[in-house]
Amino acid sequence: MIMERIKNKDYHDKIMSAMEAAALIKDGMTIATSGFTPAGYPKAVPKALAERIKREGIDLKINLYTGASVGDELDGELARVGAIKKRLPYQTQSDCRNKINCGEIDYIDMHLSHVSDFVRYGFLSKIDIAIVEAIAITEEGYIIPSTSLGNTPAFIENAELVIIEINTRHPKELEGIHDVYQPLKPPNRIPIPVITPKDRIGETYIKVSPDKIKAIVISDIPDSVKEFPEIDEISQRMADNLIDFLENEVDNKRLPENLLPLQSGVGAVANAVLGGLVKSKFSGLSIYSEVIQDSVLDLIDSDKVNIASGSSLTLSPKGLERFYNNIAKYKDKIILRPQEISNSPEVIRRLGVISMNTAIEVDIYGDVNSTNIMGTKMMNGIGGSGDFTRNAYISIFTTPSTAKGGKISSIVPLVSHCDHTEHDVQVVITEQGVADLRGLSPKEKAKVIINNCAHPDYKDALLEYYSNEMNQCHISHKLNEALSWHYRFLSTGTMKK
Ligand code: COA
Repeated sequence: MIMERIKNKDYHDKIMSAMEAAALIKDGMTIATSGFTPAGYPKAVPKALAERIKREGIDLKINLYTGASVGDELDGELARVGAIKKRLPYQTQSDCRNKINCGEIDYIDMHLSHVSDFVRYGFLSKIDIAIVEAIAITEEGYIIPSTSLGNTPAFIENAELVIIEINTRHPKELEGIHDVYQPLKPPNRIPIPVITPKDRIGETYIKVSPDKIKAIVISDIPDSVKEFPEIDEISQRMADNLIDFLENEVDNKRLPENLLPLQSGVGAVANAVLGGLVKSKFSGLSIYSEVIQDSVLDLIDSDKVNIASGSSLTLSPKGLERFYNNIAKYKDKIILRPQEISNSPEVIRRLGVISMNTAIEVDIYGDVNSTNIMGTKMMNGIGGSGDFTRNAYISIFTTPSTAKGGKISSIVPLVSHCDHTEHDVQVVITEQGVADLRGLSPKEKAKVIINNCAHPDYKDALLEYYSNEMNQCHISHKLNEALSWHYRFLSTGTMKK
């Protein structure tokens, strides 16, 4: 049975246990893995490594590079045994996050489109071992990845050694969904030939030199994407506001009737907002995004979406079951690309992608914080939000107008950390309304954001902050008050006066 998945006979004597493969990993190494938000990451080898560290009581620390976030079996297990020294480019696991926030793990929060090039150009430490999850190996010895593509091709090409985890949990029929394309280094790089989201430009497998492969491990551990919560009233209102905005763009001939390719960010809010399109009048839509969440399956099932291009199948357990039960249908409409292609600024700008990402907080001039709670605690990371926002045809941020049961206003005088500046953010949407910032000066933006997006509990205080006196200037802040809302929350438990 397993030999059906490893068609190249020369590889059969490379099969070993996860513990034997984990023994290849030494203190100080840089380990780069497959996996993207959190799909298609290796699970058996990192679990075995953590077990070995615990059992032998050894001090072993690695630099860990991935595509994007990975599950507990990798980030969680290794963070808990203190085995991660440096981590990039994105994470969402709570133990890993806590160790970043207490300074135990050095974290490089990177634009996802940069990682493969940084590896290729030699900007990061050399990769000792790439560990990649796959569904099969072809007769030629090529690797067929699993539920994501991420940075896997560049990691494999630039690693000294490769460990492959063949995960039998994923059906072999996944083969054919990937589109592997690796750009050349400048000055020889040519334009990426993606002209429409449905274009396939590469191979369905990753080529590798056979002598690099040092171990093949068999696993059947599932990806650990969480179930998405039911769409609540706030998310529904944000989705309604987004759809009204898009309809208005079509009515004003700024967008075609089937819109332009859509990108939607990670998380519950993004999933709910994209899901709102199922009930909209739009059809013939396309998606050029990085994560394919459950809402994309809803859009395909309702014949709203013709093609969805991304880098990972970030599907909940129920979503993945649904995908696997109808794999032929979905495979026809979904393409998985390396993240340097799904998130390529050049392609995003050229296709005219409409980006829709979630903000933690937005300030009165339209600067967005996507990453650091109260400016000091890393949540997840910037992910692909910068790749898309800066280059979008229209860049949109959604956020509920309050957080933590109303104790926090998501519209603040000044963001406590800035990921996306007012130069890049075109539209802000909360459940209260839409702030269309295009063509507005900072003075005009402030009024629109406060009046259209702030929660009524905080509107007067924001208007008071943005007093007439400040209105005389271009961008102005009362520096002794600008972060007082955050300080008040930290000292009293609420931003309310
Ligand atoms: N102040 C403090 N906490 C806030 C907050 C604010 N203004 N806004 C949200 N939060 C907290 C929520 O309370 C929640 O906390 P909990 O985990 O303790 O319950 C947490 O942040 C997540 O917020 P939630 O409302 O559940 O939204 P989400 O799951 O949709 O995640 C982001 C929102 C911003 C954290 C998430 O979208 C993200 O990491 N974005 C950055 C990366 C990105 O945009 N990638 C997109 C390209 S794929």
